Amino acid sequence: MMTKEKVQSFLKEIEVDDLVQNFQVMGNDVYIDMTAHSPAMHEKKKLEVAMKQAFATEFGEDVVLKLKIASPEPSEIQQSQIKGKQIPGIQNIIAIASGKGGVGKSTVTANLAVTLANMGFKVGVLDADIYGPSIPTMFDTVDAKPLSVQIDGKNLMKPVENYGVKMLSIGYFSGANQAVVWRGPMASKALNQMIRDAAWGELDFLLVDLPPGTGDIHLSIIQEVPVTGAVIVSTPQHVALADVRKGIAMFQMESINIPVLGLIENMSYFTPAELPDNKYYIFGNQGAQFLAEDLGIPVLGEIPLIQSIRESGDVGRPAVLQEGSKIAEVYTKTTQNMIGSLVERNKFLPPTEAVKITTMAGCSPKNK
Ligand SMILES: Nc1ncnc2c1ncn2[C@@H]1O[C@H](COP(=O)(O)OP(=O)(O)OP(=O)(O)O)[C@@H](O)[C@H]1O
Ligand SMILES: [Mg+2]
Repeated sequence: MMTKEKVQSFLKEIEVDDLVQNFQVMGNDVYIDMTAHSPAMHEKKKLEVAMKQAFATEFGEDVVLKLKIASPEPSEIQQSQIKGKQIPGIQNIIAIASGKGGVGKSTVTANLAVTLANMGFKVGVLDADIYGPSIPTMFDTVDAKPLSVQIDGKNLMKPVENYGVKMLSIGYFSGANQAVVWRGPMASKALNQMIRDAAWGELDFLLVDLPPGTGDIHLSIIQEVPVTGAVIVSTPQHVALADVRKGIAMFQMESINIPVLGLIENMSYFTPAELPDNKYYIFGNQGAQFLAEDLGIPVLGEIPLIQSIRESGDVGRPAVLQEGSKIAEVYTKTTQNMIGSLVERNKFLPPTEAVKITTMAGCSPKNK
């Protein structure tokens, strides 16, 4: 027989009593209203799973937990979660990431950037792929060199510009070939300079094209740059999804806690040029959808595998520049969803401030 007393002492025992607003016991049904520590969907999901497990273990399967988990009020969110130096003039910094290589991060970054610029936003792209920069190629700026400008007595790098997007990449500097052998600290120093010693001016969005994996560069960016949110790119293949989970987990680690704005599924389906309305799900269907649901993050868009996307990447003219095309339409929708997710995020959390890594199980940042 369930009683209020039993529930009360159990909530105390598992140390969630301070999160519970009220609870009721009716027969074997236990109704609990509680507030999560963070408004992030994954936090609420985590709390729900943990509560259900704890109750099932303690009271058995007969007891049914009816849980309502609310988001905390903005003022209740611990400001201490996010810390660091702001970058004046830059409103939102979005990291484009994936645990996996070759899924199309750089292609997605380039097309999102141009779509945002076409919408009238001021956009910058930072190519954080020190070891394999691809932004210069994708924006047809391989031979460009950033100029030096003096601002307030300081020499700053002036980003290269094309299609209305400002860019910096290690690929624009003469030492680019040596960069391949740089170790973590050198790489993150170069990256830091491109972020802080650059004349980005006023930007609504700075998109950061991250290299594959979850290594030093990622930690460095997360530590030094006030990332507003992360967009995860994945292909529908299972192998990619497993790696992508790791990528997402990095942002969601308690000590990092960068909101994941959503998942973009790239190469979702194949559409031949001669049959633009046909969709062939050659890598499987809805893989990203399941992953996103499982992790409580939204799918922002599904980008088809189209020959012209690769071709436009290779010639340095992002595919979305083909006005009125299907691909431009898909990217507009995806970009709108990303902005929607960002607006939601900005309602709850303080503005862009770099995350301070306190403790990270299993990894010690080398570049400190
Ligand atoms: N939707 C798509 N349709 C067709 N080709 C695509 C698509 N997306 C990306 N590609 C192609 O796939 C290749 C890999 O893309 P890209 O370089 O953007 O991946 P990445 O994730 O940035 O790779 P890396 O991990 O090496 O940084 C490129 O040749 C690109 O043109
Ligand atoms: Mg890339």
